[in-house]
Amino acid sequence: MKINDCRIINFKKISDPRGNLTVIESKKDIPIEIKRVYYIYEVPGGKSRGGHAHKNLEQIMISISGSFNVVVDDGQQRKRYYLDHPYYGLYIPRMIWREMDNFSPGAVCLVLASDYYSESDYIRDYGEFIKTVGDTNESKER
Ligand code: TYD
Repeated sequence: MKINDCRIINFKKISDPRGNLTVIESKKDIPIEIKRVYYIYEVPGGKSRGGHAHKNLEQIMISISGSFNVVVDDGQQRKRYYLDHPYYGLYIPRMIWREMDNFSPGAVCLVLASDYYSESDYIRDYGEFIKTVGDTNESKER
């Protein structure tokens, strides 16, 4: 997958004098069926998360509270996103390296995932990631 396959999804905000509400339905508001939800929170200042790619998993990242940066990398190009609203989701397809940093105090990163947790789906070594995407590009060119 390429950097341009990552994209911001703008969710509907149902505004109300009592407060706002955002709803996300599988395969309607996002391109995936949600099988797993997790969230990252209480990240100490200066720490980063992520630092891996997934062989098959697709994810949507949302800043439910506060803000943080997500750097996405396809092995050729990198792009930095700043997530700071609960009505924006960043769609990350398979085989994209990602790193999250610059978490504001109290930031919560909600992740919607297309599959259950599986450590064998991770590529945690950047060199291995670069080699894998390189091999894939080569076999396409052949
Ligand atoms: P990891 O995915 O590396 O964290 P992040 O990408 O958010 O920085 O996961 C950190 C640890 O948590 C790792 O030991 C695996 C475990 N984990 C689960 O057990 N289940 C899960 O669904 C996730 C996302 C992680």
